[in-house]
Amino acid sequence: MTADASADMTDPLADVAWEPGVAKPDPILVADNITRQFGGLKAVDVDHLEIQRGVITALIGPNGAGKTTFFNLMSNFDSPDTGTQTFNGKDLTNTPAHKVANLGMVRTFQLTKALSKMTVMDNMKLGAVGQKGESFWRALLPFTWRSQEKGIETRAAALLERFKMAHMTDEFAGTLSGGQRKLLEMARALMVEPELVMLDEPMAGVNPALTQSLLEHVTQLKDEGMTVLFVEHDMDMVQEISDWVVVMAEGRIIAEGPPATIGENQAVVDAYLGAHHDAPLEWEDETDGDDVTSAAPADGSSEESS
Ligand SMILES: Nc1ncnc2c1ncn2[C@@H]1O[C@H](COP(=O)(O)OP(=O)(O)OP(=O)(O)O)[C@@H](O)[C@H]1O
Ligand SMILES: [Mg+2]
Repeated sequence: MTADASADMTDPLADVAWEPGVAKPDPILVADNITRQFGGLKAVDVDHLEIQRGVITALIGPNGAGKTTFFNLMSNFDSPDTGTQTFNGKDLTNTPAHKVANLGMVRTFQLTKALSKMTVMDNMKLGAVGQKGESFWRALLPFTWRSQEKGIETRAAALLERFKMAHMTDEFAGTLSGGQRKLLEMARALMVEPELVMLDEPMAGVNPALTQSLLEHVTQLKDEGMTVLFVEHDMDMVQEISDWVVVMAEGRIIAEGPPATIGENQAVVDAYLGAHHDAPLEWEDETDGDDVTSAAPADGSSEESS
């Protein structure tokens, strides 16, 4: 890809070494010595990780690597056994999850959490109210509430429009397809006007007809100045939209680098070969057809489906 509007700026990661835990020029999120143990299993063991502001970072790794647990820990849906994370320089150790969202960091879930017996609009409102603890209490005061609810509804309607779901505003979320729920969840996450959006497998279970538009929505977040951190197993999507890739295996960060190079990293290849991964790892870059290809086991040898 050559110069388009978004490529005008020089790549902020161009001079960053391809090493796990490497420092970034302008990190929005920094994790230090984060560990989380479940029984005898150390699900997460991250010495140091920095997420660069204003770019799209993909977090990849075999099943069970600890990606979702790491998301839970960063967003304070779960507490680490050790370690701290800072967001915009602020230590989040004692910040409850809804306040983390309030500060500008939201996440979506691998299994969507749309409330099926509520309408799409009510789900959207919950994105604002449910994540903003204080405004829920303020909402009990009728005068402030009325003007605030109007603002919330306007924003929700605009987001539903943007995600092409306006016609579903009054439908129950339970009637939506898997892909539409993913869209609803992404739209709902944007209700708090976040700076950092963390998406846990946004494309999983999505009808192929919807994936391209989902990809465009993710790219659009970046174009609007947001930072995106997303977990994804589909390497074509990772190659297509990410600026940087972080690889996790057995709880640790084992590699980092630009998407075109990451498949050539031996530690990454070994991690995927060693794991009983449920999808083949394919690295060929179909969009450019240039020299940024492959590395991972040549055709077929990684196709073990366990
Ligand atoms: N609440 C829990 N209690 C016990 N073990 C857990 C819990 N949550 C996660 N684990 C274990 O921690 C490890 C990491 O799980 P996690 O869900 O974070 O992996 P993941 O990288 O998101 O995998 P996937 O790609 O399959 O979504 C796994 O071995 C999992 O079984
Ligand atoms: Mg997961």
